[in-house]
Amino acid sequence: MSTVYLNGEYVPKDRAMISVDDRGFLLSDGIYEVTPAYRGRLFRMEQHMSRLRHGLDALRIDFDAAGLPEMHADLIAANDLAAEEVAIVYLQITRGVAPRTHHFPPEGNPPTVYAFAQPYLRPDPARWELGYEAITVPDDRWARVDIKSIGLLPNVLAQQAAVDAGVADALLVKDGIALEGSHNNVFAVFGGVVTTHPATHQILHGVTRAYVMELAREQGLAVEERPVALEEMRDADEIFFTGTTTEVRPTVRLDGEPVGDGKVGPVAKSLCEAFKAGTHG
Ligand code: PDD
Repeated sequence: MSTVYLNGEYVPKDRAMISVDDRGFLLSDGIYEVTPAYRGRLFRMEQHMSRLRHGLDALRIDFDAAGLPEMHADLIAANDLAAEEVAIVYLQITRGVAPRTHHFPPEGNPPTVYAFAQPYLRPDPARWELGYEAITVPDDRWARVDIKSIGLLPNVLAQQAAVDAGVADALLVKDGIALEGSHNNVFAVFGGVVTTHPATHQILHGVTRAYVMELAREQGLAVEERPVALEEMRDADEIFFTGTTTEVRPTVRLDGEPVGDGKVGPVAKSLCEAFKAGTHG
C-alpha cells in the first residue's frame, strides 16, 4: 500500500478520503504539478514550485507552499523510491471543500492538498530507437493553458484519440499552429535549428522544455522560440516531444506520414543522451 499525503498527514492510500464537496471534484477548481526524482533526487524543484505559485496566484488560492519541497522528499522516502531510476510526485491543490457555488467560498476556507509518488518506467532503449508516432488533434482548450489546471478534459480526449489511433502522442493544433502535446511540449528541428513555440498563454511552460533548450544550447545548437505552422511542422527534419513523463520522445511518423527520413534523428538522440546524463549527474 503506498503512502500518500493529504492535508498535512501521511496516510496509506486507502485511508485518504476527500469530500464529495471538494471543489476539485465538483468544479475542477484547482491546479497540479508533476515533479520527477532521479534516484531519489528531486529535479528542478524550484522551477516546478514557481510554476505552481504562478497557478495559485492566477486562481487566487491562498496557500503557503514553503513546506512542499520537504513533503515531496518525504513521500519519495516513505514509498521507498530513493533508489528508483525515475519516480514522480503528483501534487494537486484545490480550492477546498465548500457547498457548491460558482464563486469562491468565504476567505479562510482551507485548500485541499493531495500528493502521491510512484515509479516512472522509462521505455526500453531498443523501443525508443524505433521512434514513435503522433496524430494531430484540434486544440479545444481554454485560453490560459499556461496555468496547470486540473481541468484536463480536452487533453484527456486528445490523448484518447492518440490511443484509439494506436500512437504515442497527440499534437494539439490551433489556428494552423502546432502548439504542444496533450501532456508534453513539442519541438521541431529545421536545418539544425531546434524550434519550439514561445512560452505564451497558449502552452504549458514545461520545465523539461526549458531544460532541453538549455541542453541544445550547450551542444552548440541554435534554439528558436516561434510559432510553427502545422504545414511547416510536416516538413521538419525531426520532431520530438518533451515532458516529465515523456522525457525526450522522438516522432518518426505524423498522421501516418514519415517525419524527415522516418528514423529517429541525431538531435533527438543527442538531447536524449544529454538529458539522461544530466538528470542522473
Ligand atoms: N504534463 N504541456 C502540457 C499540456 C502538459 O500537461 C505537460 C506536463 C507539459 C510538460 O511540462 P513538464 O516538462 O514540466 O512536465 C507540457 C504532466 C507531466 C502531466 O499532466 O502529467
